[in-house]
Amino acid sequence: MRSARLGLALLVAATTAQAADPATLGLPALAAPAAAPALVELGRKLFFDRRLSANGTMSCGMCHVPEQGFASNELRTPLGVEGRSLRRNAPTLLNVAIYTSLFLDGRAASLEAQAWDPLLAGNEMANPSAEAVATRVASLPDYRAPFAAAFPGAAPDRATIGAAIAAYERSLVAGGSRFDRWWFGGEAGATTAEEREGFALFRFRAGCAQCHSIGERDAAFTDQRFHNIGTGRARVAAHAAPVRVELVPGLATNVSQAALASFGEAPATDDGRMEVTGDTADRWKYRTPSLRNVALTGPYMHDGSLATLEAVVEFYDRGGGDDPGKAEWLFPLGLTPAEKASLVAFLKTLTGPNVEALARDARR
Ligand code: HEC
Ligand code: HEC
Repeated sequence: MRSARLGLALLVAATTAQAADPATLGLPALAAPAAAPALVELGRKLFFDRRLSANGTMSCGMCHVPEQGFASNELRTPLGVEGRSLRRNAPTLLNVAIYTSLFLDGRAASLEAQAWDPLLAGNEMANPSAEAVATRVASLPDYRAPFAAAFPGAAPDRATIGAAIAAYERSLVAGGSRFDRWWFGGEAGATTAEEREGFALFRFRAGCAQCHSIGERDAAFTDQRFHNIGTGRARVAAHAAPVRVELVPGLATNVSQAALASFGEAPATDDGRMEVTGDTADRWKYRTPSLRNVALTGPYMHDGSLATLEAVVEFYDRGGGDDPGKAEWLFPLGLTPAEKASLVAFLKTLTGPNVEALARDARR
């Protein structure tokens, strides 16, 4: 009983502290309390350390690039060790702690568990086992002091390495955007009339907030659920289309993608949420991404198929992708050019004021 009351008191204290921090204004309260600085520091070191990959070339931070919104702006889908290609776009890790499930198909339940997926994936960091990673970290002299500070008396292993990386990721909190200051903070001058018009479209006529949710006191901009918005079928159709290949200057021919694939890696299939549930009704469903800091995290969608926010708004104006199985809330919107521009302007208000500071801190 006593410990329950103490827990409640701590929770109240944590909530009050969060309300006072401008970087968290408008963000949902996070389930995990802020970690000890020594743990975050160890996690940061591990996150940017190339020695954590099998051949010493790849770190987490090379796909989740701090200066690129902790995503990869230059590639639709990133490359892992030895240039092996990945099938999905690298999502931002800013505010990643708000998600109740991780990965675009929700296959990981915690950040601690998630970290081992890229560490062990053959096309990402390609380590043979968690033990191999732990042994390597234990052998590196520069980890001795930071490890002892974070975990007195404990050795690097699956649990401690996962906990440290997760603690660093949870520290990447970036709320307090101009939108938050206006909508949750009551600061009238924080947004323009055009941005406010875009927000009204977002909530009502364009139906965006059906999935990119806005609460009474905070806004995650995700319902944490999985929807088919037509991107999966569009990707398959794009891969099936013949590609024009120039054989010699001035002489071109159409080649099927299958023939092209025989020269390199075949385009990977991606069934989205169905890969987790096995249910064909979940095919091509992806977790609704939070739109916080979205201006920094292009290209967009699970496959990086849309380069700009303007292209995303055009996509939704058409009613989403061409797929009879897509979510019923998607329909052609008939937006005017000015309305499209205001929707984009609204999306650009969602950038946290501290993202540059987080990037600087990452490289410290
Ligand atoms: C080669 C590029 C690459 C590397 C290296 C990489 N990631 Fe990722 N990361 C991705 C891609 C692509 C996805 C999306 C994959 C999916 O959803 O199936 C992703 C997803 C994630 C997610 C889930 C985010 C969400 O919105 O659910 C987290 C967390 C994450 N990575 C953390 C890490 C950590 C920690 C490391 C290092 C141990 C790491 N990543 C290394 C490319 C990479
Ligand atoms: C039926 C639910 C739903 C509705 C309605 C919806 N979205 Fe989305 N949105 C999603 C899902 C799911 C994705 C991810 C799809 C994928 O990865 O292929 C997404 C992706 C996005 C992205 C790309 C984010 C990123 O990081 O890649 C943006 C931007 C976006 N939506 C904005 C909007 C806007 C603006 C509207 C209203 C015009 C809207 N959404 C309506 C579910 C929805």
